[in-house]
Amino acid sequence: MSRLIINTHNKKSKISKEIYGHFSEHLGRCIYEGIYVGEDSQIPNVNGMRVDVVQALKEIKIPVLRWPGGCFADEYHWMDGIGPKENRKKMINTHWGGVVEDNSFGTHEFMELCRQLECEPYINGNLGSGTVQEMSEWVEYLTFDGVSPMAELRKQNGHEEPWKVKYFGVGNENWGCGGNMTPEFYGNMYRRYQTYCRNYGDNKLYKIACGPNVDDYNWTEGVMKVAANFMDALTLHYYTHPGGWENKGPATGFDKETWYVSMNKTLKMEELINRHLEIMNKYDPEKRVDLIIDEWGGWYDVEPGTNPGFLYQQNTMRDALIAGINLNIFNKHSDRVKMANLAQVVNVLQAVILTEGEKMILTPTYHVFNMYKNHQEATLVESYIETKMIGVDEKNQVPNLHESVSVDAEGRINITINNLSIDEAYDIEGIIVDRPIKSVTATILTNKMDAYNTFDNPEVVKPEEFKDFVLTAQGLNFNIPACSVISFIIE
Ligand code: AHR
Repeated sequence: MSRLIINTHNKKSKISKEIYGHFSEHLGRCIYEGIYVGEDSQIPNVNGMRVDVVQALKEIKIPVLRWPGGCFADEYHWMDGIGPKENRKKMINTHWGGVVEDNSFGTHEFMELCRQLECEPYINGNLGSGTVQEMSEWVEYLTFDGVSPMAELRKQNGHEEPWKVKYFGVGNENWGCGGNMTPEFYGNMYRRYQTYCRNYGDNKLYKIACGPNVDDYNWTEGVMKVAANFMDALTLHYYTHPGGWENKGPATGFDKETWYVSMNKTLKMEELINRHLEIMNKYDPEKRVDLIIDEWGGWYDVEPGTNPGFLYQQNTMRDALIAGINLNIFNKHSDRVKMANLAQVVNVLQAVILTEGEKMILTPTYHVFNMYKNHQEATLVESYIETKMIGVDEKNQVPNLHESVSVDAEGRINITINNLSIDEAYDIEGIIVDRPIKSVTATILTNKMDAYNTFDNPEVVKPEEFKDFVLTAQGLNFNIPACSVISFIIE
C-alpha cells in the first residue's frame, strides 16, 4: 500500500491556465487541413476553421495558442499573409517538407481562430530573418488604435478595431533554426528588437525571449546576463525522444524497455526546470522573469509512408503518460512556470487531435488534457506520494507513481495521478488532512502501453468513469491499474 498525503491547508502557487497551452505551426497538416480548411470546403467550418476541431479544443479549455512557429516563425514575413488572398505571396516552406505555403492563413485568420477558441493568442515574431521594422510594424498592425500606416492597413483589410495581444515571442530557437546565434549575440539582438515592440494604448505586451534547448545552461546564462531586464519570460524547449535525436524510434509498436526510457527521459523535465531556474535567479533575484516551456512532448519517427517533413505521428498510452507526467511537473513548478505549449495541437508530433479529410479523432493525450483541465487557475497544494523505483534495467529506473493536487476556487480538490508501470497495479491509501469528503467524481484512462485510436477505431483509448475507490475516515483508498492516468474531483 502506498500512501498519498494531501494537505490542502498548505497552499502553494496558482496554476496559471496557460500551462495547458498549445502550439500551432505552419508545418505539415497542422494549420492547413488540421485547423483551416477555407470557407469553401465541404468540411463544416466557420470562416474557414473546422467546426469539429474548434469544438474539441474548446472542450479542453484551450487557454493559449502559439503561432506561426517554431522554425517557421523565423522565416515568416507577416505582410505576405494579409490582404486579399488571391494577392498573397506564395513561398516555399523550406523547413517543413519544401511545400508551397500560399499564406491563405495569416494574421487575420489566426486572430479569428483565437476568437472562436476564446483563447489568448501567442504570436512568435521573426528575429532570425526579419527586420526590426517588420517586427515593430506587426505589433503596430495588431494593436494600435489610432492613425498610423499599419492601423490604416489593418482597417483596409477589414479589421477596424485593434486586437488585444499579450504574449509576443521575439524569435524562436535562435541558437539553431532561428539564426544559429551565440547567446550573447541573441541577447543583444533581443534587446534591440523588443525595444520597438511597443505597448499601444492599454495593450501591454508580455515579451518572451528565446531560451535554451534542453540542458544548454550556457545559453540561459548568456541570454539572462545580457537581457534579463528586458523580458517577461524565457522559454525552454524539451522533447522526449526515446532513442535520441538521430534515432527516435516508432510512435507505436515499441518494447517495454523503450517505454521506461521514455518515462525516464520525460521525468528529466523536472531537473531542467530546476537548473535553468537556478541560473535565471542569479540574474533575476526577484524572480520577475517567468519560465515558459513553449515546446514539449514526445517526438518519434514519422508514420511510415508520410512526408518526413510533416512530422505526423501516432499517439499511444505512452503519450498519455508523457502528458500526465509533464503536466504534473508544470503544476508543481507553477510558482515560476507560467505557460507551456504542447507540440503540436493537430496532426504534428504529440497532437491532441488527428484529422483525415472530414474525419477527426481524439488522441490519448487529448483525454489527459481533458482530465487535467480543472487544475487551470486552481491553487497547487502540498502533496506527497510514496513510490518505489521500477523499470526493466538499472539505467532507466523511474518512480512507479506520479501526482499533483490543486484546490479550485469552489474548494474542490483535483488529484491527477499516473501509474508508470506497464504491468503492475498498486493499492493507494489517500489521506486528506483535516478535510471530510462529501462526494468524489473520478475518471480513468488506461489501456496497454501502445494502444492508440485510429480513424476506423477511434475509441480504443477513451476515458471512463472510475468507481473502484472506497471512502475512509481520513480520505479514500483505491487501486490504480497498470499504465493509467486517473483524475479525482473531490468535494
Ligand atoms: O515542433 C517542431 C520544431 O521543433 C519547431 O519548429 C522547432 O522550434 C523545434 O525544433
